[in-house]
Amino acid sequence: MKFRENINAIIIRTLLDSETYVSGEQLSEKIGISRAAINKRIAALRREGYQVESVTNKGYRLLSYPDVVDAELLSAGLRTTKMGASLIGLEAVGSTNEYAKKIATESPDGTVVIADEQTMGQGRRGRSFHSEKGQGLFMSFILKPKIPPQKAPLITGIGAAAVALTLADLGIESEVKWPNDILIRGKKVCGILTEMSGDIEQIEYVILGIGLNVRNSEFPEEIKEIASSLWREGYEMDRQQLFWRFAQKLEELYMEYLSGRKERILEVLRKYSCVLGKEIILYGAEGERSALAIDLDDEGALVAEIKGEGVITLNSGEISVRERK
Ligand code: BTN
Repeated sequence: MKFRENINAIIIRTLLDSETYVSGEQLSEKIGISRAAINKRIAALRREGYQVESVTNKGYRLLSYPDVVDAELLSAGLRTTKMGASLIGLEAVGSTNEYAKKIATESPDGTVVIADEQTMGQGRRGRSFHSEKGQGLFMSFILKPKIPPQKAPLITGIGAAAVALTLADLGIESEVKWPNDILIRGKKVCGILTEMSGDIEQIEYVILGIGLNVRNSEFPEEIKEIASSLWREGYEMDRQQLFWRFAQKLEELYMEYLSGRKERILEVLRKYSCVLGKEIILYGAEGERSALAIDLDDEGALVAEIKGEGVITLNSGEISVRERK
């Protein structure tokens, strides 16, 4: 497991933070290693794909970083206190949710497992999640709020609201399709899989798994009509920046939630919803039912009116928005 404050991460963080040159002396004093050792580290970072300019009498300046899912780089750019303070970056894994579950008990609240590729990415209801190498952000946050399991569905809402706000800050208009999809122009660019463990009174942990399609130019035949990526929708984005911004937004909303404030989360979910006020189809044990999506309740559950049956509240479920003819 790699933690935030190792030497390379401090070098990268210092360079990322600085708008101008950072001298070898500054780095050496800050870290407590010799200038020659700093030099060696910079040379090693260059070999890893970091473009570091060095100018005599001025020092080092970071021009670019490699597009990798690397714990040092991802940790270095985080401006959070909790989210990602413990960060595990993997080149490839079956599923970050599965990995997170294995380490959840002994991991602190806010730990993240992030991978460049998932070979068995999981979606809801036993579906798979297409997780091609280098194309997206596949990450699982281990959260430990002290709440009973009935309240856990809003954790998915916190994730969805954090994605929508992150994209909005970057000028990207997205919509939240309750409960766990983020769409751009009607196509899914992000899915959320929340899993939990605990007893009837209190959850032990929640795994908030987020898969965001960033750079994909193509999708497999079976999902190509419904899936998209930021790149396909015209937005060229740096995965690392997206991660840093997302972690920050997630932390803000999660901290609000922990202190009992749910208003902003619900406001964001309502504002970006592509479901509220629409005719929807509910898919459940009873088969398909038509309904009108009315609102979200205080826990982020969907309040819908089923024709002839009255108003119901859904904590989770599968819906689709009825196309207007
Ligand atoms: C869905 O669309 O049904 C949910 C998709 C969730 C995908 C993410 S990617 C990171 C995390 N690990 C997984 O195996 N799944 C989630």
